[in-house]
Amino acid sequence: MSRIAYVNGRYVPHREAKVHVEDRGYQFSDGIYEVVALANGRFVDLEPHLDRLERSLRELRIAMPTTRAALVLAMEEVVGRNRVRDGIIYVQMTRGVAPRDHAFPARARTQVVMTAKSTKPHPAKYEEDGVKAVTVPEIRWHRCDIKSVSLLPNVLAKQAAREGGAYEAIFVTPDGVVTEGSSSNAWIVTRDGKLVTRALSNEILGGITRQTLMDIAREEGVEVEERPFTLAEARQAREAFVTSTTSYAMPVTQIDDAVIANGKPGTISRRLRQSYIAYMARA
Ligand code: PDD
Repeated sequence: MSRIAYVNGRYVPHREAKVHVEDRGYQFSDGIYEVVALANGRFVDLEPHLDRLERSLRELRIAMPTTRAALVLAMEEVVGRNRVRDGIIYVQMTRGVAPRDHAFPARARTQVVMTAKSTKPHPAKYEEDGVKAVTVPEIRWHRCDIKSVSLLPNVLAKQAAREGGAYEAIFVTPDGVVTEGSSSNAWIVTRDGKLVTRALSNEILGGITRQTLMDIAREEGVEVEERPFTLAEARQAREAFVTSTTSYAMPVTQIDDAVIANGKPGTISRRLRQSYIAYMARA
């Protein structure tokens, strides 16, 4: 089946979907995006994703191009035309098309692009053995709370993971503190069974999966602490995992050369992953 993309109000064959060379997203990465999962044909956590999208736009003073309701209708249309039941939709908005000048153009029309695709379940091996992560120096800017398309450090980090035979790269500050993954939030379970993830700030993206997982954990009686943790603490942790729209809760059993605990996904990571998958199925 040929795929269909959405480009500024038009539904076009994916291979013909194009934007202007002077799109500011292309020239300045002057734009934002969202990735929303679909389970059984329904969006998972749609409202929080749209809240974050609108917040990212506001922070960059990019105009929301339509009403939220109209955007959702277009999102549903993209999903329908691509016959996605289990997969993701990608929504990108950039400041507009204008002659190249760093400052905002006087008149700009927000450009909207959307694609949707089906995704396969994660390999069973990930669940059984967990995944490896590598660490990379935190070199990003101080507005990581904005879901900007400016992802070059994240691209380099993920490539380092790929080349290191790892699933994810984790950013670590010069003083040894973990911020987050290249496209995920990072968590550990301490020796005394507490779930720890960084508090929200401008240094990390406020993951939607992070929030949902935190709510699920608390409902299940797991104590959650929102505080920074160091790489040294992560290496010594009882369990580690990362969360994102596409990874759900993914157990991490090795960080660089350090095997976490006995090298198998821990009980809390496993349980929360299952609970999250069940939550998605109820979306
Ligand atoms: N990335 N941190 C970063 C830097 C991310 O890029 C992402 C998501 C997350 C997790 O956010 P959420 O739980 O809302 O997906 C944290 C998406 C999936 C991506 O870029 O493809």
